[in-house]
Amino acid sequence: MSMNSFGHLFRVTTWGESHGPALGATVDGCPPGVVIDEAMIQHWLDKRKPGQNKFTTQRREPDQVKILSGVFEGQTTGTPVQLMIENTDQRSKDYGDIMDKFRPGHADITYWQKYGIRDYRGGGRSSARETASRVAAGGLAREAIRQIAPNVQITGYMTQIGPHKIDRKNFDWSQIEENPFWTPDAQAADDWAAYLDDLRKSGNSVGAVVEVVARGVPAGLGAPVYAKLDTDLAAAMMSINAVKGVEIGEGMAAAELTGEANADEIFMGQNGPQYSSNHAGGILGGISTGQDIVVRFAVKPTSSILTTRKTITKSGEETEIITKGRHDPCVGIRAVPVGEAMMACVILDHLLLHRGQIGENRGRIG
Ligand SMILES: Cc1cc2nc3c(=O)[nH]c(=O)nc-3n(C[C@H](O)[C@H](O)[C@H](O)COP(=O)(O)O)c2cc1C
Repeated sequence: MSMNSFGHLFRVTTWGESHGPALGATVDGCPPGVVIDEAMIQHWLDKRKPGQNKFTTQRREPDQVKILSGVFEGQTTGTPVQLMIENTDQRSKDYGDIMDKFRPGHADITYWQKYGIRDYRGGGRSSARETASRVAAGGLAREAIRQIAPNVQITGYMTQIGPHKIDRKNFDWSQIEENPFWTPDAQAADDWAAYLDDLRKSGNSVGAVVEVVARGVPAGLGAPVYAKLDTDLAAAMMSINAVKGVEIGEGMAAAELTGEANADEIFMGQNGPQYSSNHAGGILGGISTGQDIVVRFAVKPTSSILTTRKTITKSGEETEIITKGRHDPCVGIRAVPVGEAMMACVILDHLLLHRGQIGENRGRIG
């Protein structure tokens, strides 16, 4: 069984728990000759790293990546790349209370029911510390993509926090790096800051929507019917902790549209087909169209909150719980680089699959 791995050719296996000595990713199938070093991967880990502003957990996890194998003289060798991140800011005593009690909304109860043994410290394997491993693998995937399809650009951002959505009229790519929410709407960033500050101080939490876009992806990626690009992207995003919904393009809103409104009309441009709109999110029949690939996912509110909640103990007694420790008031913020990493891994995987089966696209237009 390989339930801790994903990807067909670019195969990522993550390992480790929140309070073990280290965690990481083993990447098998990375092409040789990818120029990579620890700093290039660290760049993306720093984006996910906690404690960078008051809206993320104040745990101090430096998340320093080490490359243990698969790289020689600054290039991948085609052998497995082992990426390791040591855990350094563990406070197991913060979790003493959840040794016997189950946090409502967290994975404590299901891990216990299934396995009958559970590393309760920080949530163990169910902790989103695991997502650091994905971000490290995603950093490597980005560099491999740069060599195979240099026009691809992958960007994630938040479009909603609680009930507050961005105004698409204010969308500005250059704003994304300028605020703690990675949002393209500067006005929304100001409003959200006040809103989340109040929630944080009251010990509560809130959900969010993250959108990840891949621009410059060539037409033809995706392997129907059981490795459609949208199938693999949906699985990848849904596997991120706290994600409860995934959409491609118009997503759930497509149900409200008529066929007329939903049709992305096709025109002949100078360099091939062009589309009047992108309701499809850049994927038709599981294959990329050459338009932007647009994926959106909803994350639920952080379950570890300072408000008293009813729960039960392992022995079945009813009790109450307050989850102490240092938690994210909105996990959507730190989920942005995780979504980007998953997009990078899936796109690279499909670039390699496409290269293996087809090479250059065979169907000519014009
Ligand atoms: C980047 C990120 C950070 C997270 N941080 C926390 C946290 O501080 N506290 C918490 O209770 N849950 C946190 N979560 C969510 C839990 O890991 C998740 O809810 C839990 O594993 C149960 O899984 P499920 O929500 O997918 O069912 C985080 C999720 C992500 C993506």
